[in-house]
Formats: sequence, C-alpha cells, structure tokens
Amino acid sequence: MQTVFVSTWADPGGPCVREAWESYQQKSDLLSACEDGLIEVEMDPKFMAIGLGGFPNAEGEQELDAGMMDGRSLRAGAVCALRGIVPAISVARHVMDTPHVMLAGDQAARFAESRGFERRTLQTRESLARYEAWLKDKTAAEVAHLATHDTVTIVGREESGHVVAACSTSGLAWKLPGRVGDSPIMGGGYYADDDAGAAGATGVGEDIWRFMLSFRAVENMRDGMNAEEACDAAVKVMVDRKPETREQISVVFAVTIHGDWGAAASKDGFTAWTCIDGLVESHAIRGAAAKGY
Ligand code: GLY
Repeated sequence: MQTVFVSTWADPGGPCVREAWESYQQKSDLLSACEDGLIEVEMDPKFMAIGLGGFPNAEGEQELDAGMMDGRSLRAGAVCALRGIVPAISVARHVMDTPHVMLAGDQAARFAESRGFERRTLQTRESLARYEAWLKDKTAAEVAHLATHDTVTIVGREESGHVVAACSTSGLAWKLPGRVGDSPIMGGGYYADDDAGAAGATGVGEDIWRFMLSFRAVENMRDGMNAEEACDAAVKVMVDRKPETREQISVVFAVTIHGDWGAAASKDGFTAWTCIDGLVESHAIRGAAAKGY
C-alpha cells in the first residue's frame, strides 16, 4: 500500500487530490503531482483563497505565498508576497532548483519572469467586487471570509514511502501589504521528511507559524506516533498554550511514510479530502474540544 494524497477544505480539496492523482498516473512523480493538484485550484478563480482571483490585501492587490518540500532530498522552494504571477506553486518549484529556499516580493516576480512566467492581473471581476464590498463593510466581509475558506495544502505519499508537502495561498484576506503567513514557511505551512512523513497546515497563519504545526507533526511521527496522534499532539500544544486559538480554525494534517493519514483542528468545521489509490473521499474533521482536549 498505497499512494495517498490529502488536501484541504470542502470546495478545493476534491479537485486538488483528483488532479494530483491524474498527474501521478501520467508522470509517476510525486512533486509534480502535488504541484499539479495546486495548479488546478490556483488557476480556477472560483477558489477564493488561492491564486487567480484570490483574496487581495488591504490595497486591493493579490499577494501570493507558496512552498513545497521534497521528503527525499529535504530540498524546499518557496515564494512570498508574490504579485502578478500564477501559479505561485510553480514558481516555488523553480526556486527548489536554486541554492536558496525562498524568494520574496518583486524579486520573486522577476525570478519568475526569468523562468518564463508572465506578469498579469490576478484580480477578477468577482474578487474586485468582494474587495469593494469589504471597503464598504469591513466587519461583514471579514466574518464571511473566516467562515468559508482558506489556504490549499496537499501532502502526498507513494508506495516506496517517499513523501512530499506543498501549500499555496493568497493569504489572509485584506491583510496588510507585505504580510506573509505560514504557507511559504518550511515547518509552518508544510514539511516533509522520508524518515518520518509529511504534514501541511491551513488556517490562521500567525498561529500555525508560531507553533510550527507542520514541523511539530512530522517530529511527532518521527517519535513513533501515527498521523492522527501526531496532528492531535501538535494542535494540543497550541490550544493549551494559547487557548484563544480555539476561536478560529487552524488545522494540521499528515501522512506517515507507511501511508496512514490523520488531521487535527483547533475547532470543528474543517473538511479534508483524501485520494487513496484513486479512491476520492471527503472527511469532516472534529475539532480539539470534540476530541476531548
Ligand atoms: N494560512 C494562510 C495564511 O494565514 O496566510
């Protein structure tokens, strides 16, 4: 057993794992599969927290964060505060081929251009309308955003036990220009190590980063926990140390090198999607209180 993909949220998670599986059938390459899964949702403007048509910052401009990590080599690539280029995850993949881990802002966009990407507007009619609605009524728009969606993250594991993690987002809606969340941060939004497993996160970037949820979950797997135990232990540290993290949803999910997967959330409301040897399923993940911690 088994080729496993796990991804985030009720709407984008299904298309993401399906595309990852299709890509894996064609290319037999786990990094490309995770990248292709994220490209599928980045380039579809109906997914509002990622890529084209994603939530803009407070000045009305999309700033994208993305990162990915290869569990075999421990190489990682990331971009942050990237403007005017999609798919951000593919730029992150190119960064993996340099001696560096992360490129930021306009220099990341210039690097992307040097690799053949073209600058374009990421604002769509719908994202502009949402931005204008926010300008008119900031509280209502913020509540609507928090209630519905966030970053798309994917972890993959193939039969050999090789694992990959990848993550892409337009970040917190209406953020201060230049704000970077957990998603491009190795250990925060994603982490992968073929000696243990892969983990990814979604939710409140500042909290996920503060508690390094992905790294914590992978280290828990290294210590012998299964994926669900590893995620629960990571989230428990966060909600115990900072109880207000129970009020907004933050999630970490993981797959071990043996192929078992699990997820944990600071509160109810998260849906994970899995694709295990081609079988696609969604799963409601109980929050910390419902699990008794
Ligand atoms: N988790 C995505 C962000 O906070 O930017």
